[in-house]
Amino acid sequence: TYVIALPCVDVKDRACVDECPVDCIYEGGRSLYIHPDECVDCGACEPVCPVEAIFYEDDLPDRWAAHLEDNAAFFTTALPGRAAPLGSPGGAAKLGPLAADTVLVSGLSEHPA
Ligand code: F3S
Ligand code: F3S
Repeated sequence: TYVIALPCVDVKDRACVDECPVDCIYEGGRSLYIHPDECVDCGACEPVCPVEAIFYEDDLPDRWAAHLEDNAAFFTTALPGRAAPLGSPGGAAKLGPLAADTVLVSGLSEHPA
């Protein structure tokens, strides 16, 4: 899978969303998250991010390694204000932007990158 790492937090340019052929880039309150089971590894999102927040999982810099698990956690754990995890919605557009983030991203200071 591809992963959105820390530079996206509080930036949320969203250029990546328009490139994704399977609509698997979901919007939270402070960051976007790639669904690891829905991403088909096409790589179209990676070059368009102006802050270079997107990496193939094997290329994720060590300092941002936690974002691999964290992108998955956006879907596998119940976010604040929701009773159940998102699971596999099968498309971000129909879900729309959510106000919530993962524990990792919520806990970051403002403009951490
Ligand atoms: Fe974030 Fe870059 Fe996409 S800033 S929303 S990963 S284009
Ligand atoms: Fe979409 Fe990027 Fe994966 S464009 S399919 S999230 S590699």
